[in-house]
Amino acid sequence: MYVCLCKNVTDHRIRGAVEEGARSWREVQQQTGCATQCGKCAGTGKEITREAIKAE
Ligand code: FES
Repeated sequence: MYVCLCKNVTDHRIRGAVEEGARSWREVQQQTGCATQCGKCAGTGKEITREAIKAE
């Protein structure tokens, strides 16, 4: 599903960033661009990032 419409970031892309080594929301943002425009997706993006890091 799309998390971030501004930057076309899916939940899959966020999980991929964590698999590739991102270890914080900031790092996921740097890799994907998620929540770097309007910011409305920040809550969902952070949640998915937290779950993905926990599952690593
Ligand atoms: Fe993600 Fe706008 S929906 S920055």
